[in-house]
Amino acid sequence: MANSESKVDKEELGKIIIQEVAKTGKVPEEFLHKDDLSKGVDVPQEWRDVLLIDFPLLFSTLPAVADTELEKLRSALSNWGYFQVINHGIDNSFLQDVFEISKQFFNLPLEEKIKYSSSDEKVQGYAANLGRSRSQTNYWSDRLFLNLQPEENRKLKFWPQKPANFSKIIDEYSQKLTRISEAIYKAMARSLKLDEDCFIKNQGRKMAMSGGFNFYPSCPSPERVLGVKAHSDGSTMTILLPDAQVGGLQVLKHDIWYNVPIIPGALLINLGDLGEVMTNGIFKSVVHRVVTNSEKDRLSVAAFFTSEDKKEIGPVSELINEKHPQLYRKLDTVEFRSIFFEALSQGRKTLDALKL
Ligand code: OGA
Ligand code: NI
Repeated sequence: MANSESKVDKEELGKIIIQEVAKTGKVPEEFLHKDDLSKGVDVPQEWRDVLLIDFPLLFSTLPAVADTELEKLRSALSNWGYFQVINHGIDNSFLQDVFEISKQFFNLPLEEKIKYSSSDEKVQGYAANLGRSRSQTNYWSDRLFLNLQPEENRKLKFWPQKPANFSKIIDEYSQKLTRISEAIYKAMARSLKLDEDCFIKNQGRKMAMSGGFNFYPSCPSPERVLGVKAHSDGSTMTILLPDAQVGGLQVLKHDIWYNVPIIPGALLINLGDLGEVMTNGIFKSVVHRVVTNSEKDRLSVAAFFTSEDKKEIGPVSELINEKHPQLYRKLDTVEFRSIFFEALSQGRKTLDALKL
């Protein structure tokens, strides 16, 4: 009985787990877009320097040095909604450990991975597809989603026991990212001439972090299949560890898709919808997507930061004035989450629902 049940499950999963679909060598009809998708243009040369932040310079004791880097950060987040950061203090060898252990998880047999999935958990665990399956066209990626911080939000039944070091490495990674995120929230505030703790206070001391481990198998029809559809993140900020070998991330600006360049050892910081709300629209929540390729699998680890559970979040009062009237209403994380997932599954913009 138990056996035949799990067999049915496995057959069903074979249709929704993209790694299994990819093994057939064919792309089912429902993945194919009508338009040619894969072409993006390169980020213009004059923006490359602005979109690359040298982390320690943000905190330089030389005012002229710090001011230049803070101005780059302000410009990147107001014009693009993202930047890449180097010299952030996490060793490249540790980033590779995070990357490899995540890849090893996806390379486990399906039987092992589905131990961490659950049909009644919409968000956490393996194959938590975040509303993607409910949309008209499917997307070429699998995901493991875990609450990382604060520790009491973790649901350990979804944390892989294999590979053996997974939990230890990801726990350590989340602690390192907490420190970086705090420094970046401070730099964001300073770049707008605000008290450096203002974005941290606005989100509450027990800011939440969740992890999306994304696996994009190589795809036989890359020009017609997306890895992840165009979306903005629900976070205040996301820190992405992109694949250092395989590109695919694109960002949208003025209706043009730009290819995000691979910068070895860099982390990518992007603003999410709650970040745009918090800054009263001064910093932009970047719309982005992932294109596929026919040669290589791709992996990324996204860490999404949001405010403390149930805390109300809205534009900080310092950024509301005559020149910038309040753009978005206040709401708590529970309400936000329901609006976000609803909009995501329907392909609408969450921010439109939050405008005053
Ligand atoms: C995400 C995302 C981008 C990538 O997980 O929300 O946009 O490069 N990932 O995988
Ligand atoms: Ni995203």
